[in-house]
Amino acid sequence: MMSKHSTYLEEYLEELLEIITIKDEYTKNHSDNVRAMAIELGPLLGIKSEYALDLLGRAAWLHDIGKIIVSKTILCKPSPLDASDLRVMNMHPLYGAELVRVDKRYGATISPIILYHHEWVDGSGQYGLFASEIPRFSRIISIVDAYDAMVSDRPYREPRTVEFIQSEFCRYSGSQFDRQILCTFFGMMGWHADCLCQMGPVDNRRQM
Ligand SMILES: [Fe+2]
Repeated sequence: MMSKHSTYLEEYLEELLEIITIKDEYTKNHSDNVRAMAIELGPLLGIKSEYALDLLGRAAWLHDIGKIIVSKTILCKPSPLDASDLRVMNMHPLYGAELVRVDKRYGATISPIILYHHEWVDGSGQYGLFASEIPRFSRIISIVDAYDAMVSDRPYREPRTVEFIQSEFCRYSGSQFDRQILCTFFGMMGWHADCLCQMGPVDNRRQM
């Protein structure tokens, strides 16, 4: 996985992902899938440089690394999480951001991407960031993360159908998800983006 330029700290992060594999096989597979889809989507969004794509891939791969601090009881719970579980689970972006910060080469860049990967573009997320205040790579990861989560088989539900996934993305376009990135994602998937394109131009002004 790591390149010939891997540092000791990158190997440390890889070790952490291996520990996640032991705790929770789903998170490891999910991290690999999110990385693969993010670096496929990146060039379609105009992200062409090798350095930027490498950063996007690393951030996508490590986006849920903070789950290493979440207990296995919660990570592998065979039922939907209750409010108290969710309070713990909602800390994983912060935990992950702190874990990667120690990497001198990439930490400062990747840390905020991980911290904000669950922010909503309408400003209603955990940290209240709005639209482009959320790092673009976080907004990309948010979409491929949601896709992989919905398409995955979970202990408490079957994989979602393509129709269900499309309707969820349309429903939360412009609130949870960046609509322009979503349009490009729909194109990558070969899906009709009518429900997104009929909504008119994207309004990036904060509603007061
Ligand atoms: Fe996450």
